[in-house]
Amino acid sequence: MMTHGLSLFVAILSILNVLACGWLIWWTARSRPDEVKQGEVIDHVWDGDLQERNNPMPRWWLILFFLSIGFCFVYFLLYPALGTFGNVLGWSKANQYESEMAEARREYAPVYAAFAGRSVLELSRDPKALALGHSLFANNCVQCHGSDGRGATGFPNLTDQDWLYGGDPDTLVQTITNGREGVMPALGAVLGEQGVTEVVAYVRSLSGAKAPADQIEAGKARFVLCAACHGADAKGNQAIGAPNLTDDIWLYGGSEKAVRTTVTNGRHGQMPSHKWLGDDRIRLLAAYVYSLSHPAGPSAGEAAAP
Ligand code: HEC
Ligand code: HEC
Repeated sequence: MMTHGLSLFVAILSILNVLACGWLIWWTARSRPDEVKQGEVIDHVWDGDLQERNNPMPRWWLILFFLSIGFCFVYFLLYPALGTFGNVLGWSKANQYESEMAEARREYAPVYAAFAGRSVLELSRDPKALALGHSLFANNCVQCHGSDGRGATGFPNLTDQDWLYGGDPDTLVQTITNGREGVMPALGAVLGEQGVTEVVAYVRSLSGAKAPADQIEAGKARFVLCAACHGADAKGNQAIGAPNLTDDIWLYGGSEKAVRTTVTNGRHGQMPSHKWLGDDRIRLLAAYVYSLSHPAGPSAGEAAAP
């Protein structure tokens, strides 16, 4: 909020400005010394040959100018131009935003209502619902997951069958509504340089990368530290978002360097909550995301599942 003093300062400055404009136009428009007739040359010369004629500005132009000055004062009265003074209409940016949002809600409510109460699975087979889900995705998700949903380093690909938390409709709704936080602890200090090298060799070997056999062997023994979260078979745990480490699909990269950084420093992926979108939009989004990894629609077996 503006203080009273600042308000006063702004108000005086604005009014003086407009009055100064008025004065300037009056001063330049006033007729020239009487002895020079309109249209004649005034008795002074610049640069040797530049002369001035006594040609006052056209009356219609002056009238327009003074009208706009009058308009200025009306505007001052109606809108917040003088600090906290004036603004009889009570206009504010927040008000305008609110009323535009309310308008949009009124306008779109019937659009979403048409899909209310239908299951995510059902929506994922309805082209109209998917088109709407696609535009919601474009507005809310692409900055992190990419316009095609294929993600980027640190942002999961949503089009494959590899899920941190799960790709069934209910889990998708959960993820979008409440957000997710994946915490991979920093284990560099616990493992030491040599320990990290070994465990990295082992983890990468699970996806087919080559490393000296003794390193892999030693790393396998160290994996007990990791098994609590990633599972003894290293296939991950969707309850806490611990990724499958055997499929050569990497959230943070599968190079020696990238996996080493992950294990040494840990990772902390955050998917923000989107509760504010409301239930109807979230189910449309879940349906769209579901369709990305089920392009031909769910198989008969999945459709029959509860
Ligand atoms: C407390 C549970 C926990 C432990 C212990 C743990 N991890 Fe993780 N790990 C996670 C979680 C959760 C993620 C996902 C982090 C994210 O989503 O940002 C992760 C991510 C990873 C990744 C990145 C995978 C990718 O796709 O890029 C690797 C590699 C990894 N962990 C290896 C290990 C190794 C090796 C150990 C043991 C030395 C270990 N983790 C121990 C929970 C754990
Ligand atoms: C600010 C970036 C950001 C935005 C915006 C965002 N996400 Fe995410 N999302 C992430 C990150 C990061 C993860 C991985 C979290 C982790 O590592 O544990 C994730 C995870 C997910 C997952 C879980 C994937 C899995 O493998 O289980 C889904 C589903 C998802 N997002 C959908 C969406 C949808 C739909 C939207 C739009 C409404 C969205 N996200 C918007 C960053 C974002």
